[in-house]
Amino acid sequence: LANAKISVIGAGQVGATTAVRIAEKELTREVVLVDIVEGLPQGKALDEMEASPIEGFDTEIIGTNDYKDTENSDIVVITSGLPRKPGMSRDDLLSVNVKIVKEVTEQVAKYSPNSIIIVVTNPLDAMVYTASKVSGFADNKVIGQAGCLDSTRFKRFIAWEAGVSVKSVEAMTLGGHGDDMVPLVSYSTIRGVPISQFFTKEQIDRLVDRTRNGGGEIVKLLKTGSAFYATSSAVVQMIDSIVRDKKDVLPCAVKTQGKYGLEKDLFVGLPVKLGKSGIEEIVELKMSGEELKALKVSGDHVKELCKRVEELKLL
Ligand code: APR
Repeated sequence: LANAKISVIGAGQVGATTAVRIAEKELTREVVLVDIVEGLPQGKALDEMEASPIEGFDTEIIGTNDYKDTENSDIVVITSGLPRKPGMSRDDLLSVNVKIVKEVTEQVAKYSPNSIIIVVTNPLDAMVYTASKVSGFADNKVIGQAGCLDSTRFKRFIAWEAGVSVKSVEAMTLGGHGDDMVPLVSYSTIRGVPISQFFTKEQIDRLVDRTRNGGGEIVKLLKTGSAFYATSSAVVQMIDSIVRDKKDVLPCAVKTQGKYGLEKDLFVGLPVKLGKSGIEEIVELKMSGEELKALKVSGDHVKELCKRVEELKLL
């Protein structure tokens, strides 16, 4: 996907930072940043373009309120929608964000019928379901970002706890993007050595808990919005694997196809191989009975949310 056309819908904290990260890494030549607020995507795009001589990148960011400018995108990132405020769960955003994601997905399907959609708006798994249903795109082309964010948080906390470089840490979080997500402790390692050899059970429980509440911890501190630096890094990790056809194995929200004993139409975070055609394979890891059970519980929660989406009768 050399010189992929990438559009980012929503020029708020997550969307604009995503565009900036794509540009500064020169992942492609052109990024289109769209928002309904007039002047916002144009202003942010112009500001970042004026940083390009210092940062030394030639990627163009085009700010616009017109979906026509997104025409024939290869990848579209959907970040439009409300973020959480303190005291809110991601699920509280459901009814308002379903409307926004539906409206945006219709425009994406109209102007970029061959694109890969990456959904970021919360409550994530239900929004991926919405985008999939509204677009009618093939299952390999509708992907949710959540696992990469939850996993980078888990890795950061492990590295702090052990006092080691983040580069020595591997960890992965599966399941829905909620408090019942499933950090895979048995596959979390420091240079390949399981973390259980470094930490006590209490330490591990604390790290898992902090990961599960990672988003809430930021919301509580920021008060007026939610996380966006690590969120946008996670999106760009996925885009990088797609545009460079790297086949990186990353946890993403995808239709399960019945893998891991989950219902086949459910969207939930699983490890997938990401390449130029989007999801190229759902990677099946051996998991303990306890982890599979936790994944099922998380999946059931997502199922409930999708039922709530259906009850709104908007799709
Ligand atoms: N079309 C395009 N843009 C829209 C639409 C729409 N229909 N509705 C809202 N937006 C835009 C808003 O104008 C705003 O600029 O989406 C942007 C959202 O930005 P922020 O409020 O800064 O929210 P952000 O922190 O970026 O989070 C966006 O990602 O991580 C999730 O939970 C988070 O659902 C939230 C989303």
